[in-house]
Amino acid sequence: MEYIQRIQKVSVLGAAGKMGSGILLLTAIEMADQMLKPENQGQSFVLNAIDTSDEGLVGLVKYIRLQVIKAAEKKVVSLRKVYSDKKALIENSDIIDAYVQDVMSVVRTTTRIEAAYDSTLIFEAVSENQALKEKLFRMINENNNSQPWFFTNTSSVPIGGLNKNASLGGRILGFHFYNPPAVQKLVELITIDENPIEMVEFANKYASNLRKTVVPSNDIAGFIGNGHFMRDALFGISEAERLSDEMPLYEAIYCIDRVTRDFLSRPMGIFQLIDYVGLDVVQFILRVMQPHMQGEKLHSSLLDELVLKGVKGGQFSDGSQKNGFLKYEKGKPVAVIDNITGSYVDINTFNESADHWLGAIPAEVLPWKSLVKVADKDKILEPAFKALQVSSLKGCELAVAYALNSRETARKLVSDGVAHNEKDVNTVLLTGFFHAYGPINDYL
Ligand code: 3HC
Repeated sequence: MEYIQRIQKVSVLGAAGKMGSGILLLTAIEMADQMLKPENQGQSFVLNAIDTSDEGLVGLVKYIRLQVIKAAEKKVVSLRKVYSDKKALIENSDIIDAYVQDVMSVVRTTTRIEAAYDSTLIFEAVSENQALKEKLFRMINENNNSQPWFFTNTSSVPIGGLNKNASLGGRILGFHFYNPPAVQKLVELITIDENPIEMVEFANKYASNLRKTVVPSNDIAGFIGNGHFMRDALFGISEAERLSDEMPLYEAIYCIDRVTRDFLSRPMGIFQLIDYVGLDVVQFILRVMQPHMQGEKLHSSLLDELVLKGVKGGQFSDGSQKNGFLKYEKGKPVAVIDNITGSYVDINTFNESADHWLGAIPAEVLPWKSLVKVADKDKILEPAFKALQVSSLKGCELAVAYALNSRETARKLVSDGVAHNEKDVNTVLLTGFFHAYGPINDYL
């Protein structure tokens, strides 16, 4: 089956979720772009957006429409060529409307899993629940006569196990997007020996059409991205717990979040990132990884305690951030959870003393937003890390310890055989987590 045939009948499972909606968006655009090519005129393209909640699907359509308008605005010049035979489309807004209509015409929302019984390609982005994933794969595989390919977005569950338990005969691979899929450039590709070669070739071509960077990971629980993220998160939590000997835990969480964002020029502090992904998702990934990582403790009692209290983070269907370790207003952290009372403590009541305790950020350290735009980052990062290293201020010391732990974690992924090489680990952090520099560097 050619690329074009494979991409004509597609389903996304969990399409209304935060990862599913991004995968649906990118796939809908790719399918519409193929449909609009002269050689494919008249062919049908169907993308089933499957999810359990009608309400979620309504929110999904709103999200997709808005994002397609943005995408169309960015490529209006090339779209004008695509629609050159449609003389009635004169203004840019006409072109944009036509494109939105074409992309939306591909998408069929449904709560019925049966829609996938006719698909040749299935993207799976349901919640990180291995039993649920296997049940859905088995149901579709048993009822679908076209030997569909399954691309799972699992961020942690080994693909070999899913293949075996759902009896898929090698027609599954890990195709792991990063959040938000429309923004992050990375796809982590996890293949298994049983995969047909054409399936792997298709996966690479599809990723390339989406303009994604592909990094291969070996099939080891957590893969590269979460292999780093989970250990980075646990280190952050343990650092905050250690600091709570000298300040309340909520203040310590604020300090570590600030160090990991502002002193290390990252897009988000580590606690904000845990909230963004979801405390319950992080907890699940840790549980999946733990049995595979003998001799290492991948667990946080604080995380368990908060999830038990219903503090889960994640996002609302409009993309806004739910409260987790931090409480958000208009996307900005405004308070931090007090694990004892379960209520949030306003940052304004303690940030002055906490910031004083951390000390000033060295002038050489640029905020992430400015740093990501710099072409020659070495010129900025070498003096920035030097300044952090020579300083005896608490914030700088914490930042250096954090960066060293991140580097050690990254190297371990290579020595444990998860990543093929150090460059791949750096690429994952640069393109999946939008870091401005890789964890394995010579700055320290
Ligand atoms: N869908 C589409 N576009 C989105 C979006 C979404 N959900 N969220 C943000 N964007 C777009 C914005 O519209 C904006 O686009 P524009 O430049 O064209 O206007 C652009 O992204 C930047 O957004 P903002 O200006 O609002 O904010 P920031 O510049 O601070 O960037 C961020 C936001 C891209 C989320 C950035 O903070 C970031 O990359 N943070 C790190 C996120 C991360 O680490 N993700 C990986 C998590 S781990 C994972 O996914 C693996 C999983 O399996 C556990």
